[in-house]
Amino acid sequence: MKRILSGIKPTGAPHLGNYFGMMKPAIEWQEKGEAFYFIADYHALTSVHDPKALRENTRAVALDFLACGLDPAKAVLFRQSDVPEHTELAWLLSCHTPMPMLENCHAFKDHLAKNKTPNHGLFAYPVLMAADILLYDSNVVPVGRDQKQHVEVTRDIAGSINRTYGEGLFVIPEASIIPQLATVVGLDGQKMSKSYNNTIGLFEEEKALRKKIMSIVTDSTPVEAPKDPAGSSIGALYRLVAGEADVEKMEADFRAGGTGYGDFKKRLFESLWEFFRPMRQRRAELASDPGAVDAIVKAAGERARAVAHRTMERVRTAVGLR
Ligand code: TYM
Repeated sequence: MKRILSGIKPTGAPHLGNYFGMMKPAIEWQEKGEAFYFIADYHALTSVHDPKALRENTRAVALDFLACGLDPAKAVLFRQSDVPEHTELAWLLSCHTPMPMLENCHAFKDHLAKNKTPNHGLFAYPVLMAADILLYDSNVVPVGRDQKQHVEVTRDIAGSINRTYGEGLFVIPEASIIPQLATVVGLDGQKMSKSYNNTIGLFEEEKALRKKIMSIVTDSTPVEAPKDPAGSSIGALYRLVAGEADVEKMEADFRAGGTGYGDFKKRLFESLWEFFRPMRQRRAELASDPGAVDAIVKAAGERARAVAHRTMERVRTAVGLR
């Protein structure tokens, strides 16, 4: 049986990039193996220094994931900090991680490029992520393309430790990335990301969502002129949420000319609103009983911790701490 694991940071409400890049594939994986998904609150601490926001976001991520179809009977949805073994393993892995490997990681490099001073947590972030993955002997890690490098780092660290202490100490994981969902674009045409302020949340209020969709950046092609569906973020987002016939119709209308971007944006809004309608209903039901959501996450934390505990016993013995 395959072990599947992935995580999401509670740095804000989940957005379409999170959903299509990770949550949706993760929910599909829950049918195919033993799935462990977690809310990466230790990771969020690298950038979120507001305790109230961290608590609220953590709960919101759990709520959204459950509303989208995560089944707690099939997948273990837990909070990373309920399993402190993540940080213990991160330390052990740190002692086998060459600094240049981390200096090469994109989040660190981006910070330097923007003249920001990264904290040590951000620098060491990929090591904590390796610990998350290796702690559960994970085979498959469903992620968006931006996490590919981190899974490669995990494989390198695990390989190096296995060569030191014995093959088989750690399972070498593989990233699972669905090419057409790997990078969802945001309102400005760049990758959708909380740090670019270009996100569309899964459960925004109707008015706010409409306003966001109408603000999608487009070129200045006049209404009458033919337009290129391939280069448009409206088209790219529409393909994620609309049926095949509607997508073909929109692409034909792009090419034919005579329809303005405002009209395409309205169609995108309608499809998006419909796509998330059942999940919105489910979310409202779940939100009426936050205690039940907390209980699901807490119970999952205990299950995850039992697995983590067994791995750490094995690892402590292998390295000579026991
Ligand atoms: P995070 O919280 O930034 O994002 C969660 C997941 O959403 C995917 N994603 C996207 N996919 C497609 N298009 C986009 N625009 C887009 N934006 C985000 C991400 O690729 C990710 O899969 N480091 C991780 C969290 C993490 C983790 C782990 C993941 C911590 N430990 C262990 C896997 C395994 C992160 O920051 O994801």
